[in-house]
Amino acid sequence: MNLSLDNIIKQAEYAFESAKDSTGLENAKAHFLGKNGVFASLLKGISNVRLEDRRGYGSSINSAKKKVDFLLSRHRERLLNKELELRCSSEEIDVTLPGRGLVSGSVHPIMRSWERIEKIFRSIGFDVIDGPELETDWNNFTALNSPLGHPARSMQDTFYLDLKDKNDLQLLLRTHTSPMQVRYSRTNKPPIKIISPGKTYRVDSDSTHSPMFHQVEGLWIDRNVSFSDLKGVYTSFLKCFFENDDLKIRFRPSFFPFTEPSAEIDMMFTTGSNRGKWLEISGSGQVHPNVIRNFGLNPEDYMGFAFGSGLERLTMLRYGINDLRCFYENDLRFLRQIR
Ligand code: DAH
Repeated sequence: MNLSLDNIIKQAEYAFESAKDSTGLENAKAHFLGKNGVFASLLKGISNVRLEDRRGYGSSINSAKKKVDFLLSRHRERLLNKELELRCSSEEIDVTLPGRGLVSGSVHPIMRSWERIEKIFRSIGFDVIDGPELETDWNNFTALNSPLGHPARSMQDTFYLDLKDKNDLQLLLRTHTSPMQVRYSRTNKPPIKIISPGKTYRVDSDSTHSPMFHQVEGLWIDRNVSFSDLKGVYTSFLKCFFENDDLKIRFRPSFFPFTEPSAEIDMMFTTGSNRGKWLEISGSGQVHPNVIRNFGLNPEDYMGFAFGSGLERLTMLRYGINDLRCFYENDLRFLRQIR
Protein backbone atom coordinates (compact mmCIF):
# COMPACT_ATOMS: atom_id res chain seq x y z
CA MET A 1 0.00 0.00 0.00
CA ASN A 2 2.65 2.55 1.11
CA LEU A 3 4.69 1.51 -1.82
CA SER A 4 1.92 2.27 -4.23
CA LEU A 5 1.26 5.63 -2.51
CA ASP A 6 4.92 6.53 -2.93
CA ASN A 7 4.51 5.66 -6.54
CA ILE A 8 1.52 7.95 -6.89
CA ILE A 9 3.46 10.80 -5.30
CA LYS A 10 6.28 10.25 -7.77
CA GLN A 11 3.86 10.17 -10.69
CA ALA A 12 2.24 13.38 -9.51
CA GLU A 13 5.61 15.09 -9.13
CA TYR A 14 6.55 14.02 -12.60
CA ALA A 15 3.26 15.30 -14.01
CA PHE A 16 3.64 18.64 -12.24
CA GLU A 17 7.21 18.99 -13.40
CA SER A 18 6.28 18.32 -16.98
CA ALA A 19 3.45 20.87 -17.00
CA LYS A 20 4.48 23.63 -19.42
CA ASP A 21 2.07 26.24 -18.15
CA SER A 22 -0.61 26.88 -15.52
CA THR A 23 -3.31 25.17 -17.60
CA GLY A 24 -1.22 22.04 -17.88
CA LEU A 25 -0.61 22.14 -14.15
CA GLU A 26 -4.29 22.52 -13.33
CA ASN A 27 -5.11 19.54 -15.56
CA ALA A 28 -2.52 17.45 -13.72
CA LYS A 29 -3.98 18.60 -10.44
CA ALA A 30 -7.45 17.47 -11.52
CA HIS A 31 -6.05 14.05 -12.40
CA PHE A 32 -4.66 13.49 -8.89
CA LEU A 33 -6.64 15.70 -6.55
CA GLY A 34 -9.88 16.33 -8.45
CA LYS A 35 -13.35 15.05 -7.59
CA ASN A 36 -12.86 11.95 -9.73
CA GLY A 37 -9.09 11.89 -9.30
CA VAL A 38 -6.70 9.23 -8.04
CA PHE A 39 -7.01 10.15 -4.37
CA ALA A 40 -10.79 10.38 -4.48
CA SER A 41 -11.06 6.84 -5.85
CA LEU A 42 -8.56 5.57 -3.29
CA LEU A 43 -10.72 7.00 -0.54
CA LYS A 44 -13.81 5.45 -2.05
CA GLY A 45 -12.08 2.08 -1.86
CA ILE A 46 -11.96 2.34 1.94
CA SER A 47 -15.14 0.27 2.18
CA ASN A 48 -13.22 -2.76 0.90
CA VAL A 49 -10.63 -2.43 3.64
CA ARG A 50 -10.91 -4.45 6.83
CA LEU A 51 -12.47 -2.51 9.66
CA GLU A 52 -9.38 -2.55 11.90
CA ASP A 53 -7.16 -1.34 9.02
CA ARG A 54 -9.36 1.52 7.90
CA ARG A 55 -7.89 4.19 10.18
CA GLY A 56 -4.32 3.48 9.03
CA TYR A 57 -5.47 3.31 5.41
CA GLY A 58 -7.22 6.64 5.60
CA SER A 59 -4.39 8.46 7.34
CA SER A 60 -1.69 7.24 4.95
CA ILE A 61 -3.80 8.37 1.99
CA ASN A 62 -4.29 11.77 3.60
CA SER A 63 -0.63 12.27 4.30
CA ALA A 64 0.25 11.28 0.73
CA LYS A 65 -2.36 13.74 -0.50
CA LYS A 66 -0.79 16.48 1.62
CA LYS A 67 2.57 15.81 0.02
CA VAL A 68 1.02 16.05 -3.44
CA ASP A 69 -0.65 19.31 -2.41
CA PHE A 70 2.66 20.69 -1.32
CA LEU A 71 4.32 19.65 -4.59
CA LEU A 72 1.50 21.29 -6.46
CA SER A 73 1.95 24.64 -4.74
CA ARG A 74 5.71 24.55 -5.36
CA HIS A 75 5.15 23.98 -9.07
CA ARG A 76 2.47 26.64 -9.20
CA GLU A 77 4.97 29.14 -7.93
CA ARG A 78 7.60 27.89 -10.34
CA LEU A 79 5.28 28.33 -13.31
CA LEU A 80 4.14 31.76 -12.16
CA ASN A 81 7.71 32.94 -11.91
CA LYS A 82 8.45 31.47 -15.29
CA GLU A 83 5.45 33.24 -16.86
CA LEU A 84 6.45 36.51 -15.25
CA GLU A 85 10.00 36.18 -16.51
CA LEU A 86 8.70 35.52 -19.98
CA ARG A 87 6.53 38.63 -19.88
CA CYS A 88 9.37 40.75 -18.57
CA SER A 89 11.68 39.65 -21.31
CA SER A 90 9.14 39.88 -24.13
CA GLU A 91 7.37 43.11 -23.13
CA GLU A 92 9.54 46.15 -23.10
CA ILE A 93 8.89 48.93 -20.67
CA ASP A 94 10.31 52.26 -21.65
CA VAL A 95 10.95 53.85 -18.29
CA THR A 96 11.93 57.11 -19.97
CA LEU A 97 8.43 57.69 -21.38
CA PRO A 98 6.55 60.54 -19.72
CA GLY A 99 3.63 59.44 -17.51
CA ARG A 100 0.10 59.51 -18.89
CA GLY A 101 -0.99 61.86 -16.14
CA LEU A 102 -4.53 62.65 -15.08
CA VAL A 103 -6.81 64.50 -17.41
CA SER A 104 -8.22 67.35 -15.41
CA GLY A 105 -11.72 68.51 -16.18
CA SER A 106 -12.95 72.03 -15.81
CA VAL A 107 -15.97 73.77 -14.39
CA HIS A 108 -18.85 74.06 -16.87
CA PRO A 109 -19.24 77.61 -18.25
CA ILE A 110 -22.72 77.91 -16.72
CA MET A 111 -21.44 76.89 -13.31
CA ARG A 112 -18.64 79.41 -13.65
CA SER A 113 -21.17 82.16 -14.20
CA TRP A 114 -23.23 80.82 -11.29
CA GLU A 115 -20.22 81.02 -8.97
CA ARG A 116 -19.25 84.50 -10.18
CA ILE A 117 -22.80 85.79 -9.69
CA GLU A 118 -22.97 84.45 -6.14
CA LYS A 119 -19.64 86.03 -5.29
CA ILE A 120 -20.59 89.43 -6.69
CA PHE A 121 -23.98 89.59 -4.97
CA ARG A 122 -22.57 88.33 -1.67
CA SER A 123 -20.04 91.15 -1.80
CA ILE A 124 -22.88 93.68 -1.85
CA GLY A 125 -24.83 92.10 1.01
CA PHE A 126 -27.20 89.66 -0.70
CA ASP A 127 -27.83 86.20 0.79
CA VAL A 128 -27.83 83.22 -1.55
CA ILE A 129 -30.75 80.81 -1.19
CA ASP A 130 -31.72 77.58 -2.84
CA GLY A 131 -35.10 75.98 -3.47
CA PRO A 132 -36.93 73.10 -5.15
CA GLU A 133 -37.32 72.65 -8.90
CA LEU A 134 -40.65 70.95 -8.33
CA GLU A 135 -43.04 73.79 -7.41
CA THR A 136 -46.65 74.27 -6.60
CA ASP A 137 -48.66 76.16 -9.12
CA TRP A 138 -49.51 78.59 -6.31
CA ASN A 139 -45.88 79.64 -5.74
CA ASN A 140 -45.00 79.60 -9.42
CA PHE A 141 -48.02 81.55 -10.68
CA THR A 142 -50.87 82.43 -8.33
CA ALA A 143 -48.85 84.16 -5.61
CA LEU A 144 -47.02 86.04 -8.34
CA ASN A 145 -50.24 87.70 -9.43
CA SER A 146 -51.04 85.21 -12.21
CA PRO A 147 -54.17 83.39 -11.03
CA LEU A 148 -55.56 80.38 -12.85
CA GLY A 149 -56.69 81.42 -16.32
CA HIS A 150 -54.47 84.53 -16.37
CA PRO A 151 -53.13 84.98 -19.92
CA ALA A 152 -49.61 85.55 -18.58
CA ARG A 153 -49.46 81.88 -17.60
CA SER A 154 -49.33 80.89 -21.24
CA MET A 155 -46.20 83.04 -21.73
CA GLN A 156 -44.46 80.27 -19.80
CA ASP A 157 -45.64 76.97 -21.19
CA THR A 158 -44.57 74.44 -18.64
CA PHE A 159 -44.32 70.79 -17.64
CA TYR A 160 -47.20 69.91 -15.34
CA LEU A 161 -47.11 66.75 -13.27
CA ASP A 162 -49.89 64.31 -12.58
CA LEU A 163 -49.19 64.94 -8.90
CA LYS A 164 -50.44 67.30 -6.23
CA ASP A 165 -48.70 68.31 -3.03
CA LYS A 166 -50.04 67.58 0.48
CA ASN A 167 -52.23 70.70 0.36
CA ASP A 168 -53.76 69.51 -2.91
CA LEU A 169 -51.86 72.09 -4.95
CA GLN A 170 -50.95 71.20 -8.53
CA LEU A 171 -47.23 70.45 -8.99
CA LEU A 172 -45.09 71.51 -11.95
CA LEU A 173 -41.47 72.01 -12.94
CA ARG A 174 -40.86 75.64 -12.05
CA THR A 175 -40.84 77.90 -15.11
CA HIS A 176 -38.71 80.55 -13.41
CA THR A 177 -36.88 81.17 -10.16
CA SER A 178 -39.45 83.80 -9.12
CA PRO A 179 -41.35 81.40 -6.79
CA MET A 180 -38.28 81.66 -4.56
CA GLN A 181 -39.36 85.25 -3.85
CA VAL A 182 -42.56 83.86 -2.36
CA ARG A 183 -40.99 80.98 -0.47
CA TYR A 184 -38.38 83.18 1.14
CA SER A 185 -40.51 86.23 1.90
CA ARG A 186 -43.27 84.22 3.58
CA THR A 187 -40.79 82.81 6.08
CA ASN A 188 -38.36 85.71 6.59
CA LYS A 189 -38.79 89.27 7.79
CA PRO A 190 -37.60 92.34 5.87
CA PRO A 191 -35.12 93.63 5.04
CA ILE A 192 -35.05 90.87 2.44
CA LYS A 193 -32.01 90.91 0.20
CA ILE A 194 -31.47 87.66 -1.63
CA ILE A 195 -30.51 86.01 -4.86
CA SER A 196 -31.54 82.49 -5.78
CA PRO A 197 -29.83 80.76 -8.70
CA GLY A 198 -31.15 77.46 -10.07
CA LYS A 199 -32.61 75.33 -12.81
CA THR A 200 -35.87 76.21 -14.55
CA TYR A 201 -37.98 74.47 -17.21
CA ARG A 202 -40.15 75.46 -20.13
CA VAL A 203 -41.52 73.93 -23.30
CA ASP A 204 -39.12 75.92 -25.46
CA SER A 205 -36.20 75.05 -27.72
CA ASP A 206 -34.17 77.12 -30.21
CA SER A 207 -30.78 78.88 -30.39
CA THR A 208 -31.62 81.11 -27.42
CA HIS A 209 -34.01 78.79 -25.52
CA SER A 210 -33.65 75.34 -23.99
CA PRO A 211 -36.28 73.22 -22.14
CA MET A 212 -33.99 73.30 -19.09
CA PHE A 213 -32.09 76.46 -18.38
CA HIS A 214 -30.75 78.45 -15.46
CA GLN A 215 -31.93 81.65 -13.89
CA VAL A 216 -30.90 83.77 -11.00
CA GLU A 217 -33.63 85.53 -9.09
CA GLY A 218 -32.92 88.69 -7.14
CA LEU A 219 -35.14 90.34 -4.54
CA TRP A 220 -34.61 93.35 -2.31
CA ILE A 221 -37.51 94.38 -0.08
CA ASP A 222 -37.32 97.08 2.52
CA ARG A 223 -39.11 100.31 3.44
CA ASN A 224 -37.61 102.39 0.71
CA VAL A 225 -36.09 100.38 -2.12
CA SER A 226 -36.91 101.93 -5.47
CA PHE A 227 -36.59 101.33 -9.19
CA SER A 228 -33.46 103.51 -9.25
CA ASP A 229 -31.87 101.09 -6.75
CA LEU A 230 -32.63 98.31 -9.23
CA LYS A 231 -30.85 100.23 -11.98
CA GLY A 232 -27.88 100.98 -9.74
CA VAL A 233 -27.49 97.48 -8.31
CA TYR A 234 -28.03 95.68 -11.60
CA THR A 235 -25.75 97.92 -13.62
CA SER A 236 -22.89 97.57 -11.15
CA PHE A 237 -23.46 93.81 -11.04
CA LEU A 238 -23.08 93.67 -14.84
CA LYS A 239 -19.94 95.81 -14.75
CA CYS A 240 -18.39 93.40 -12.24
CA PHE A 241 -19.60 90.30 -14.07
CA PHE A 242 -18.23 91.42 -17.44
CA GLU A 243 -15.21 93.19 -15.93
CA ASN A 244 -16.04 96.11 -18.13
CA ASP A 245 -17.33 99.59 -17.29
CA ASP A 246 -18.31 100.37 -20.81
CA LEU A 247 -21.28 98.07 -21.42
CA LYS A 248 -24.22 98.66 -23.73
CA ILE A 249 -27.26 98.06 -21.51
CA ARG A 250 -30.86 99.16 -21.86
CA PHE A 251 -33.91 98.92 -19.58
CA ARG A 252 -36.83 98.39 -21.94
CA PRO A 253 -40.39 98.87 -20.63
CA SER A 254 -42.17 95.53 -20.48
CA PHE A 255 -44.90 93.63 -18.68
CA PHE A 256 -44.77 91.03 -15.94
CA PRO A 257 -47.79 90.34 -13.72
CA PHE A 258 -45.61 90.42 -10.59
CA THR A 259 -43.96 93.80 -11.15
CA GLU A 260 -45.17 97.32 -11.81
CA PRO A 261 -43.47 99.03 -13.53
CA SER A 262 -41.60 96.26 -15.33
CA ALA A 263 -38.55 96.33 -17.53
CA GLU A 264 -36.60 93.95 -19.62
CA ILE A 265 -32.86 94.37 -19.46
CA ASP A 266 -30.99 93.93 -22.75
CA MET A 267 -27.31 93.90 -23.40
CA MET A 268 -25.37 94.19 -26.65
CA PHE A 269 -22.92 91.54 -27.86
CA THR A 270 -19.50 93.08 -28.34
CA THR A 271 -17.78 89.93 -29.63
CA GLY A 272 -18.61 86.90 -31.77
CA SER A 273 -20.86 86.66 -34.78
CA ASN A 274 -23.70 88.34 -32.88
CA ARG A 275 -21.68 91.52 -32.40
CA GLY A 276 -23.92 94.57 -32.36
CA LYS A 277 -27.08 92.57 -31.60
CA TRP A 278 -29.12 93.06 -28.43
CA LEU A 279 -29.82 90.06 -26.20
CA GLU A 280 -32.45 90.03 -23.49
CA ILE A 281 -30.78 88.96 -20.26
CA SER A 282 -33.27 89.72 -17.53
CA GLY A 283 -36.77 90.60 -16.52
CA SER A 284 -37.08 93.06 -13.69
CA GLY A 285 -39.29 95.57 -11.97
CA GLN A 286 -40.78 97.06 -8.86
CA VAL A 287 -42.55 94.28 -6.96
CA HIS A 288 -46.35 94.51 -7.43
CA PRO A 289 -48.36 95.41 -4.26
CA ASN A 290 -50.44 92.21 -4.67
CA VAL A 291 -47.27 90.16 -4.56
CA ILE A 292 -46.02 92.04 -1.47
CA ARG A 293 -49.38 91.15 0.11
CA ASN A 294 -48.85 87.48 -0.81
CA PHE A 295 -45.47 87.68 0.92
CA GLY A 296 -47.55 88.43 4.04
CA LEU A 297 -46.41 92.08 4.12
CA ASN A 298 -48.25 95.37 3.90
CA PRO A 299 -47.48 97.16 0.62
CA GLU A 300 -48.02 100.47 2.44
CA ASP A 301 -44.94 99.64 4.52
CA TYR A 302 -42.73 97.68 2.20
CA MET A 303 -41.53 98.00 -1.35
CA GLY A 304 -38.68 96.74 -3.45
CA PHE A 305 -37.40 95.40 -6.70
CA ALA A 306 -36.88 91.99 -8.23
CA PHE A 307 -35.16 90.59 -11.25
CA GLY A 308 -34.80 87.21 -12.93
CA SER A 309 -31.83 86.77 -15.25
CA GLY A 310 -30.82 83.97 -17.59
CA LEU A 311 -27.47 82.43 -16.73
CA GLU A 312 -27.09 81.00 -20.23
CA ARG A 313 -27.70 84.45 -21.70
CA LEU A 314 -25.14 86.11 -19.44
CA THR A 315 -22.62 83.40 -20.28
CA MET A 316 -23.27 83.72 -24.03
CA LEU A 317 -22.53 87.43 -23.81
CA ARG A 318 -19.45 86.96 -21.70
CA TYR A 319 -17.83 84.55 -24.15
CA GLY A 320 -19.45 85.66 -27.41
CA ILE A 321 -21.34 82.38 -27.90
CA ASN A 322 -24.21 82.56 -30.37
CA ASP A 323 -26.03 79.29 -29.76
CA LEU A 324 -27.19 78.36 -26.28
CA ARG A 325 -27.50 74.68 -27.22
CA CYS A 326 -23.67 74.44 -27.21
CA PHE A 327 -23.86 74.39 -23.42
CA TYR A 328 -25.66 71.05 -23.37
CA GLU A 329 -23.99 69.08 -26.13
CA ASN A 330 -20.95 68.03 -24.08
CA ASP A 331 -18.65 68.75 -27.00
CA LEU A 332 -15.21 68.96 -25.46
CA ARG A 333 -13.95 71.14 -28.33
CA PHE A 334 -16.45 73.75 -27.20
CA LEU A 335 -15.95 73.31 -23.47
CA ARG A 336 -12.15 73.45 -23.73
CA GLN A 337 -12.33 76.95 -25.17
CA ILE A 338 -13.81 78.24 -21.96
CA ARG A 339 -11.62 77.39 -19.02
N1 DAH B 1 -39.59 85.38 -13.96
C1 DAH B 1 -39.53 86.15 -15.18
C2 DAH B 1 -39.32 85.21 -16.34
O1 DAH B 1 -38.77 84.17 -16.17
C3 DAH B 1 -38.41 87.12 -15.12
C4 DAH B 1 -38.63 88.18 -14.12
C5 DAH B 1 -39.24 89.36 -14.46
C6 DAH B 1 -38.23 88.00 -12.81
C7 DAH B 1 -39.44 90.36 -13.56
C8 DAH B 1 -38.45 88.99 -11.87
C9 DAH B 1 -39.04 90.18 -12.27
O2 DAH B 1 -38.08 88.86 -10.60
O3 DAH B 1 -39.19 91.15 -11.35
O4 DAH B 1 -39.70 85.53 -17.42
